[in-house]
Amino acid sequence: MRKKIIAANWKMYGTLDSVKKLTARVAEIRASCEIIIFPPFLFIPLVQQLLKNTPVHYGGQNLSVAVSGPYTGEISSEMLKEYGCSYVLVGHSERRRLFYETNTVIGEKFIRAQAAGLIPILCVGETLEERNQTKTMEIVLNQFNVILERVGVQAFETAVLAYEPVWAIGTGLTATPLEVQEVHLKLRKHIHSIDAKIAESIPILYGGSIKPENAGDLLSSSEVDGGLVGGASLNSDEFRQICLSC
Ligand code: PGA
Repeated sequence: MRKKIIAANWKMYGTLDSVKKLTARVAEIRASCEIIIFPPFLFIPLVQQLLKNTPVHYGGQNLSVAVSGPYTGEISSEMLKEYGCSYVLVGHSERRRLFYETNTVIGEKFIRAQAAGLIPILCVGETLEERNQTKTMEIVLNQFNVILERVGVQAFETAVLAYEPVWAIGTGLTATPLEVQEVHLKLRKHIHSIDAKIAESIPILYGGSIKPENAGDLLSSSEVDGGLVGGASLNSDEFRQICLSC
């Protein structure tokens, strides 16, 4: 059975003080799922200190396609690794939409992450317009396939997928448990047609306005291996409840 994962994407929120408090509270959560937090880069050394000797993992929200060099403002995979990160988000819709990251760039980042020993969490998901045009699976499978063609199926042995419908991120709108299950099932079936073993082992998370009130319904399906939580992960009580509901 795949272990459930609850990941907290703190995006560009927090102060030294709030991050200290929030990290300490997360470290106290006793849940059966694996917990991962994604703080803003600057707070990673602090989070590393506070999570020492705890089972909580952490990672970067982004990484550079380059190993090192004259790339002003970038953070490399090796730097993340040096500060104890285990995971990194790749292809989050905010990176795709607001920072013009293409599938080519996302593929390079995926490769760079794994080369440094980081586990990429590859995010895929359709916009509302695409869903209304019944293009959800076409978009999701295409976003997955372009990376697959670049990295090969074996690379997914040490990767995580996150289905994040763009229209549900930060909007308060959530996909219904049935809608989520349907996409997860089809995605896993697609992977199964390429490699049955990897299809069975790869965790597929859901992300998009997960809250304590809907977490139980969304995460209880055996097709949903956990959640990627944005807004609600900034509130330690809400995040704790979400962790306890899977
Ligand atoms: P949200 O964000 O929970 O605030 O919708 C999810 C995400 O961006 O991963």
